[in-house]
Amino acid sequence: MSFNLQKIRSDFPILSREVNGYPLVYLDNAATSQKPKQVIDAIVDYYSNYNANIHRGVHTLSQEATDAYEAARHKIQAHFNAKEACEIIFTAGTTHGINLVANGFSEILKKGDEIIVSAMEHHSNIVPWQMLCEKTGAVLKVIPMNEEGVLVFSEYKKLLSNKTKLVFVNHISNALGTINPIKKIIEKAHQVGAAVLVDGAQSCSHIKPDLQKLDVDFYVTSAHKMCGPTGVGILYMKEAWGNKLAPYQGGGEMIAEVTFEKTTYAGLPHKFEAGTPNICGGIAFGAAIDYLNEIGFEAIEAHENELLKYATEQLLEIEGLKIYGTGPDKTSVVSFNIEGIHPYDIGTIVDKLGIAVRTGHHCAQPIMDFYKIPGTVRASFAFYNTLEEVDALVNAVKKAKMMLS
Ligand code: ALA
Repeated sequence: MSFNLQKIRSDFPILSREVNGYPLVYLDNAATSQKPKQVIDAIVDYYSNYNANIHRGVHTLSQEATDAYEAARHKIQAHFNAKEACEIIFTAGTTHGINLVANGFSEILKKGDEIIVSAMEHHSNIVPWQMLCEKTGAVLKVIPMNEEGVLVFSEYKKLLSNKTKLVFVNHISNALGTINPIKKIIEKAHQVGAAVLVDGAQSCSHIKPDLQKLDVDFYVTSAHKMCGPTGVGILYMKEAWGNKLAPYQGGGEMIAEVTFEKTTYAGLPHKFEAGTPNICGGIAFGAAIDYLNEIGFEAIEAHENELLKYATEQLLEIEGLKIYGTGPDKTSVVSFNIEGIHPYDIGTIVDKLGIAVRTGHHCAQPIMDFYKIPGTVRASFAFYNTLEEVDALVNAVKKAKMMLS
């Protein structure tokens, strides 16, 4: 499919609504993406035509639901280029996936072992590791970043040693848009025998990662960031890790055999998928992957880069406006403040003009502390946004500045 922006926009019913009497300009895509009718239809189709529990029944509906759910797993495997479908574990989302890995490592880490995170992590990639350190006596180290919002690679290399057991880093910072050099980070970690988890929550809607090429040990993401529904995501883990880590939750579906004396666990992926999963969510995630691939990630990236460049140039024309995250490798996120104005006030005024942006610390308080600010206004663009919407944002921010100065 060629990149036909008007056709793409017509796939998203929500984009034709109004907010406060203005056409909706949705620029909060880093928080969650909007859903095309192809995904909405997949949800309606499941509940209308073959809703049933999976992996359990011999009846037709159960078989159809199981086949659709497992087909979605295979689609996701192909999309991320995982070696085996069993390495794709369905989760409730990125946070669930990270906690699942942290739980598994609580039986592996010893006192004095070290784990490394980056200075630009979302709280979901900080707090679980702090909890893990408290439990195990492991020590948390932090890769610093510079003023541009770029990780200092030379400092990362200094932190690595034979004590390092795990490295956790996001592919793209949700608050700054910085794209981290994950391939290099993974290579260096592997040289000291450490495993790496990449948080792909912000990258998967912009970039198609090749997990085998990256040689990453764990990769997590959420469907709702990539046009799928909320409440479902994946944890990729190399098969060897899947066999080694203890299960996160006990329950139905994750067992081989249960007696009161002893339970043995199922193999991957079921070992980590206790209970009835988000069946419809998994199937709709597959539909979202199909939709994005139909457009093509090269076209998505090219259009989003154009939006980023234009938005950056136009916003910087506003006197007193400062952008946070100015590194050379960035995705379509513009985080900014205007001198003397609270980000929340800007967010409130632009909403009155139909424009949705996020304001606040973006669940990344250490980044805000680094810049000594309470938060930012964040405009995050998706492939369905237009240059005219960037103009609407810039005009609304100018108006907010006039009203608040
Ligand atoms: N992590 C999401 C964001 O950045 C919710 O807005």
